[in-house]
Amino acid sequence: MGSITITVNRNGVFKKYTVPEHITVLEALEYINSNYGEGILYRSSCRSGQCGSCAMTINGEPRLACKTKVEDGMVVEPLEGFNVVEDLIVDRSPYYKKIQDLRNYLHCEGDKTNLKITPKDIKEFKSVRNCIDCLCCLSKCPARRFSQYPGPTFMRQLTRFAFDPRDEGDRDKEAYFENLHNCTTCAKCVEVCPKEIDIVHRAIERLRELAFKKGYYLRNHLIVRENILKGNRSVKKERGSFLEEVKEEYIADKEKMRLAFFTGCLVDYRLQDVGRSAIKVLNAHGISVVIPKDQVCCGSPLLRTGQRDLAEKLKRKNLKVFNNLDVDGVVTVCAGCGSTLKRDYREREFQVMDITEVLDKVPIEYKPLDIKVTYHDPCHLRRGQGIYLEPRRILKRIPKLELIEMEIPDQCCGAGGGVRSGKPEIANAIGRRKVRMICKTGADYVITVCPFCEYHIRDNLKKFDEEGGSLKVMNIVSLLDKVI
Ligand code: FES
Repeated sequence: MGSITITVNRNGVFKKYTVPEHITVLEALEYINSNYGEGILYRSSCRSGQCGSCAMTINGEPRLACKTKVEDGMVVEPLEGFNVVEDLIVDRSPYYKKIQDLRNYLHCEGDKTNLKITPKDIKEFKSVRNCIDCLCCLSKCPARRFSQYPGPTFMRQLTRFAFDPRDEGDRDKEAYFENLHNCTTCAKCVEVCPKEIDIVHRAIERLRELAFKKGYYLRNHLIVRENILKGNRSVKKERGSFLEEVKEEYIADKEKMRLAFFTGCLVDYRLQDVGRSAIKVLNAHGISVVIPKDQVCCGSPLLRTGQRDLAEKLKRKNLKVFNNLDVDGVVTVCAGCGSTLKRDYREREFQVMDITEVLDKVPIEYKPLDIKVTYHDPCHLRRGQGIYLEPRRILKRIPKLELIEMEIPDQCCGAGGGVRSGKPEIANAIGRRKVRMICKTGADYVITVCPFCEYHIRDNLKKFDEEGGSLKVMNIVSLLDKVI
């Protein structure tokens, strides 16, 4: 068996050790202690991914040491977001204290023996019961880091009781006052959960739905609702509408594909330039663009804030418009719209593609552009749709353009989940960290695909760019418009 080198962060001192290949991180730590005479402290129990005690930061991500194989150059550190007791042991007591505060038991007064949990209840909420208390989700949650938000697993636990017919506690109210609406739905918790619990859709959004029905919502989320009720858009019309100005069809020379354009609210009412560029860029790639005029908001801002009732109506309208078109699919230029159409429009009869997916499939030669850019991964594109290679491949095809990756390109910008509209101070606290990361790259532009991210990063660059505001944010289609 060969050997490799790993580094362990011991109370701030990084020490390198040679260990055998093909073993787990947990076995490597045991090996180091017995072969180097070291006494590295760490927790473990089941050794099979069941107890959650061995969670630590491995190559920057929270992972279970007993389920992760060692790799050459790997860096092993204590779980981020907690105080370190010693070596790889972190202080879990704030977690235990908080979970105790949440009345972590069925709240049920009197004799409720006749109230039984049904197989349907069990099936629906089984996945939120699978938690192993590893705390990986708390480690990376941006809302927890920048606000008084207890973190994903607490909301998961409240959901478990909220949807248990035997529980009489006001779990939705409890969640609301525990800052349920601070979550940006970035889904980092889902990505790092070793049990693959979909906390965002199974817990956060369901709790918000319950809370909304009982009147626990943020005032600004009602404004979004009013806007939609009045004009089918989540934002108010300010200077014209993209849908009103464009033609119904833009045919490409030597057509390779024919797609319907789902514009989304921001392109229609705010970022019309992005819409115009999208048409030109798609046409240049040989894609004809059809623009149905009676399309409406996809419902994402409602679904993310617990207003499913109205979102369902929007969905029905859009399905009617897009289900019967003579096209090869529907293209989106907004990460939020794209992930909503893909995930929540179960009855759709059309394929949905983000614009980067489409352009990457039918590459063309671009003109050179001598600039330095960095790329921000929108959460709803990277984790919502699994798209992160496509935009990078597109950027790398532009001659002379230099792509510089920032420290954490997929770190949430703070805008999502209704946080920008409902709790702007938290959205800005998260955004500030993103801006620091972006500015550190020394790029001329930060490129993104989502209009919500674009808007939020632009605002935060104005507020927090310590370099004097020379760095600008640009949508990928606006950039491509310059090189076609
Ligand atoms: Fe139990 Fe790793 S030791 S999950």
